[in-house]
Amino acid sequence: MTAFHTETGTDLKKAALFLEADETVAIPTETVYGLAGNALHEKAVHKIFAAKKRPLYNPLIVHIKGLEELDKYAKEIPAVAYHLFEHFSPGPLTIILPKKSIVPDVTTAGKADVAIRIPNHPLTLELLNQLDFPLAAPSANPFGYISPTIAEHVMKQLGGKIPYILDGGPCRQGLESTVIGFQDGVPFLHRLGALRLEELQSFLPDIRFKMNDNTAPVSPGMLSQHYSPNTVMYLAEDLSPIINNNCRKKIGVISLSREYPEILPERMVILSSNADLNEAAPKLYAALHYLDSLELDMILVERMPEYGMGLAMNDRMERAAAKFS
Ligand code: TXA
Ligand code: MG
Repeated sequence: MTAFHTETGTDLKKAALFLEADETVAIPTETVYGLAGNALHEKAVHKIFAAKKRPLYNPLIVHIKGLEELDKYAKEIPAVAYHLFEHFSPGPLTIILPKKSIVPDVTTAGKADVAIRIPNHPLTLELLNQLDFPLAAPSANPFGYISPTIAEHVMKQLGGKIPYILDGGPCRQGLESTVIGFQDGVPFLHRLGALRLEELQSFLPDIRFKMNDNTAPVSPGMLSQHYSPNTVMYLAEDLSPIINNNCRKKIGVISLSREYPEILPERMVILSSNADLNEAAPKLYAALHYLDSLELDMILVERMPEYGMGLAMNDRMERAAAKFS
């Protein structure tokens, strides 16, 4: 694989030139940073898989600039998919639809369906407007690791492997998009995400759950081990007993609002002092990245309340912790 001197900047022209030459570029979105390439060129898509060390069975999301592009890449689009996109896009909603043949098999990992979303970030929307192709973009992290929410996370994880990081500042939502699909017209939730379940349900009251199927993952974001730090990590409702049982260990803590006085201040991240899940969610991954960099013995994460963004946060942290259970 080519080694690069990775540059970070806000130069859209430069990003476009790399992408037009079938190179990969990290792009900001409202959810997490993506590692983008021309979704219609096998060569570019292969480079995304290689840089991430992502298994080829794991399909990519195709990012388009607007709803008017949808039927270029997908077919048999149910009316409700249009309504959902009209309502929630640009935004953190990904919909899986039957693909048109213009989308190469490698992009969808051989699946007959393609996952599509319209990202809500001004730089990336402007970039998509300058390009005459859509962007395949998984989260810009090595396979299985925590997703990046600032340009520095990308540099740390993929520096040297990609030519350019388009810096759009910290991701506003900080959790991946919500992924849905249809089976015989019935909507299924494939991945909880930054579009809150309650909001989705207000639109799709009959949505069903399709998760935790580890034998043949429909969406590898559903694999039980994913999004993990290198440091051993546990998730629990109350962290005090674990802290007390491990008093000789170097422990990092992520809590919603509670202080744990036994923990050194630099190892303690409180996500929202007034327990606001919307304030907490965008900070979760950055907190994990930070604590993982301290080379501690363990990271303890408090389980969030089971509503709103708490659902997706718990989902990710369960998968992150599964590696160590
Ligand atoms: O917020 C996001 O969705 C970010 C930003 C960059 O857009 N992207 C992201 O991509 O999280 P990735 O590749 O890390 O996760 C995409 C998820 C995976 O679980 C993948 O398996 C699933 O979507 N997926 C993609 N295409 C699919 C398809 N055709 N059928 C089923 N699942 C699919
Ligand atoms: Mg990912």
